[in-house]
Amino acid sequence: SADELAERIRSAKAVLGERVVILGHFYQREEVLRHADFIGDSFQLAQATTSRPDAEAIVFCGVHFMAETADLLSGADQVVILPNLAAGCSMADMADLDSVTECWEQLEDLYGTEPDASGRVPVIPVTYMNSSAALKGFCGEHGGIVCTSSNAQTVLEWAFERGQRVLFFPDQHLGRNTAKAMGVPLAQMPMWNPRRPLGGNSDEQLTDARVILWHGFCSVHRRFTVDQITAARAEHPGVRVIVHPECPMEVVDAADENGSTDYIGKAISAAPAGSTFAIGTEINLVQRLAAAHPEHTIFCLDPVVCPCSTMYRIHAGYLAWVLDGLVGDDENPPEALNRIVVAADVADHARVALERMLAARP
Ligand code: 13P
Ligand code: SF4
Repeated sequence: SADELAERIRSAKAVLGERVVILGHFYQREEVLRHADFIGDSFQLAQATTSRPDAEAIVFCGVHFMAETADLLSGADQVVILPNLAAGCSMADMADLDSVTECWEQLEDLYGTEPDASGRVPVIPVTYMNSSAALKGFCGEHGGIVCTSSNAQTVLEWAFERGQRVLFFPDQHLGRNTAKAMGVPLAQMPMWNPRRPLGGNSDEQLTDARVILWHGFCSVHRRFTVDQITAARAEHPGVRVIVHPECPMEVVDAADENGSTDYIGKAISAAPAGSTFAIGTEINLVQRLAAAHPEHTIFCLDPVVCPCSTMYRIHAGYLAWVLDGLVGDDENPPEALNRIVVAADVADHARVALERMLAARP
């Protein structure tokens, strides 16, 4: 039963003490997050990874790319565990090393590799955190950087100081929304379709480009629509609409604000009692925020429940299983089940790209 699982998790944690730290993303189920030592957005979780160098094991309740990042940033003696290895991210899977490398070679043919008079290289690759370690490694190796939804503008500024243009992958929406907010015209943001030569663009489109967008998207956030916002405003005059920047541009433009999962929570906490919020992000977070803030009215913009199906694959049973594994018993020595280890050949470059992000400041 749920109570028995919660008890198993509590007693394993009690035995392990400081030897284990449990990190949880805001989208996780409540039955998992109640056991987390630290809850955050993907940037905060990357930072939290380095905050407990004494812990032998980091149990990451999130998705695969987040656990890979934890492995890259954690100490050499620490193990990172993803309670269910099937917890991936469909957006991260939309860009792979082969097709990004092919794109890069076509861009090198078009733009060359020489810096301009002010020392800016032709293209800086920027990968959203929601990507494989191999793509973070690609960025590290080619003068690029990682961003999350909470620092995308800072990172693009970093990139434009060093490059004439940016190749942004995998999320077209975060790239477009961020660049648009920085004043880049839409006409200078061609999209790259890896199945077509030059990504389906003309030479001229690419020559004028400032941000070349990969064609990826989040299947949860692309469900939000302008019609939903119109309906929420009609039904709740004065409603504050906040959406995640992975939503399509029209939705972000129609909303009052957009920001990372942490931004959304903080905006709600800071609002005067009696506020009404329509939120465009994953349902577990919206429901938890609604339960935590009975002084406000908070609802999800999408009337049909939209969990992130892969985040949802981690439930309390998996957490109990990996913690029991770390404890061991009479017949089984302690072991790190479902360990995530980034291949040595990409780890060094990937760490460079992550460290550039952690060092980039507004
Ligand atoms: P945050 O960085 O805002 O937590 O977003 C992570 C994510 O996967 C959103 O879909
Ligand atoms: Fe990936 Fe979207 Fe799920 Fe975030 S919400 S982990 S981007 S599928």
